[in-house]
Amino acid sequence: MSTTFISDTVPEAPQDPLFSVTSAFYDDPSDKKIDLSIGAYRDGKGKVWVLPVVKKAAALVALDPEYTHEYLPITGLVEFTDAARKVCLGAESGAIKERRVTSLQTVSGTGALHLGALFLSKFYRPNGIDKPPTIYVSSPTWSNHPQILGLAHLPIATYRYFDAANRSLDFAGMLADIASAPPKSVILLHACAHNPTGIDPSPAQWKQLASVMAERHHFAFFDSAYQGFASGSLDRDAAAIRLFASYGFEMCIAQSFAKNCGIYGQRVGCFHFITSPALDADVQDTLTRVGSQLALLQRACISNPPVYGARVVSLILNTPELFDEWAEDLRVMSGRILHMRQQLRIRLEQLGTPGSWQHITDQIGMFSFTGLTEEQCLLMQRAHIYMPLNGRISMAGLNLENLEYFVRAMDRVVRETAGMKGVVEAKKMNGKSNGFH
Ligand SMILES: Cc1ncc(COP(=O)(O)O)c(C=O)c1O
Repeated sequence: MSTTFISDTVPEAPQDPLFSVTSAFYDDPSDKKIDLSIGAYRDGKGKVWVLPVVKKAAALVALDPEYTHEYLPITGLVEFTDAARKVCLGAESGAIKERRVTSLQTVSGTGALHLGALFLSKFYRPNGIDKPPTIYVSSPTWSNHPQILGLAHLPIATYRYFDAANRSLDFAGMLADIASAPPKSVILLHACAHNPTGIDPSPAQWKQLASVMAERHHFAFFDSAYQGFASGSLDRDAAAIRLFASYGFEMCIAQSFAKNCGIYGQRVGCFHFITSPALDADVQDTLTRVGSQLALLQRACISNPPVYGARVVSLILNTPELFDEWAEDLRVMSGRILHMRQQLRIRLEQLGTPGSWQHITDQIGMFSFTGLTEEQCLLMQRAHIYMPLNGRISMAGLNLENLEYFVRAMDRVVRETAGMKGVVEAKKMNGKSNGFH
């Protein structure tokens, strides 16, 4: 019998670009090889780091006679979702005190984005228009955003974000595009450590954005994948979310614990819906209706969220000593990455590598958008250094043992190509760059 799924109807999908880079890395027998593609923390020896506090909490969960593998409720582990909401909104949040938040445990940040996208696609009907709303994402953005949002049938538009010529934020463009989007548009915002550029608006710029979005009655959808990982401070990295919450926006948040707990594969995340201040009865009515629909969507997608990782993270969030240890682990990770940024810039400047390298220390979080062109990234592969072709590197892949080798390769590649193209082919990067995992 022949297949009904012929290539006309089921063409082969392109391979995820990140995975081709990663498999090229694994296939390379060289002992010099460096993988700078994957967005996961590595310690000073290049090894996967299980956070000490996660090890401790996991051991406690394993010994807990109360711990079973029973299904969780559809909306997840309540002590986890309650604590997770305090992590992003702050323990003193007015929205929490006024009981204006409903939260569901999700399959990490991706699951939270998916749930939010489904909800907005089905139920966000401002201005009486009976079709899924357009969602505005930054250009560039994490490469999985368009796929997740598209799966929920949300039409996608972009707002300007990256000024490739200056390797900085195109704030004027961002503000203008958001201001000119139709009223009540959905705007997806990276809460901190923008992926892939590593460039965030300043606190003053966030205020301007919040004012414009309030004037335009836009709906904010925050993607918070790097809280605490970016600056080492959970509060600082949540400042944009908390600012918007203080304006009384109706908004939602996709929260991931993958990076800040180093618990990537356990898929621990949370989706929060926050409604605006109103009479308590009205707020509770909104949350009941919205919460019930979210639960229905969750039921259809995953039935119940996974239990183990949520128990581990919940224990950390709800035990003051473990919480403090977590804060220290966050400082270790962010501090090492910051140190690598400084060392990378210093070494490039010492070698006199053509170009300016200030952006490496201006950027924040897991990634650096180096400014290397596609050709330059391919040349780096010849030196056994693997990075996506948009020039993004995971800073966590660098350490004091491989930094010198990396810097010398980069210096060589930049000089080799400088005559032809200049150091950074700025125009090429705009709109073309994707934020991989
Ligand atoms: C911007 C952004 N959002 C969300 C995620 C979701 O990650 P996860 O589903 O592993 O929590 C990532 C992961 O790389 C990311 O970079």
